[in-house]
Amino acid sequence: MERFINIKIEEYNSPAELGEADRELLNLAIKTTESSYSPYSSFRVGAAVRLSNGELLSASNQENAAYPSGLCAERVVLFYAQSKYPDVGAEAIAVYAKSDDFRLDKPVTPCGACRQVIAEHENRHGKKVRVIMGGSNGSVQVTEGIESLLPLMFMMEQLKKK
Ligand code: THU
Repeated sequence: MERFINIKIEEYNSPAELGEADRELLNLAIKTTESSYSPYSSFRVGAAVRLSNGELLSASNQENAAYPSGLCAERVVLFYAQSKYPDVGAEAIAVYAKSDDFRLDKPVTPCGACRQVIAEHENRHGKKVRVIMGGSNGSVQVTEGIESLLPLMFMMEQLKKK
C-alpha cells in the first residue's frame, strides 16, 4: 500500500498580495535582518511572530565561533516569545534572509530544527502557526501550519511511557 500526502503552499509574487497583518509581520522580519549577528555565514535572517494577544516580536540569527552554538532567527524569536508569554501562542511567524554573498531568489524556508520547534509550539498551544516565508525577489510562500513543512512529525504523544 502507498499513501500520498498533499501539501498546500500559498504562493505570492509580492508582499503586496498578502493581507495587511501578514505583510506587516513580513516587513518586521525584513527589518530585523539588520540585527543579525552572522560574521561566519554572512547569511542574515530575521524572524517575526504575531502572538494571539496581538503583540509582534522579532529576532535575528545569532552565530558563534563555535558554529553549532549559534541559533536560527526562528528559534530565537519563538523561545523569546515562549519565555516572555508562556501562555500565549503565536498565530504566525514570518522569516526573511538577506546576504551579500549568497543568491537568494527564492523564499527562505525554516531548517528542520526550527520546524520541530514550531511543531512543539503548535502542540503546546493547540493552534496552527501560519508560516510566512519571504524571498528577496519579492516572492512569498505561506503554509497554514507546520505540518505542510514537517509531515510525519515527532510529537509528545510518542513519548508516552508504558
Ligand atoms: N538560519 C536561520 O536563522 N534561519 C533559517 O531559516 C535558515 C538558516 C541561519 C543559521 C545560520 O546563522 C545562517 O542562517 C546560515 O545557515
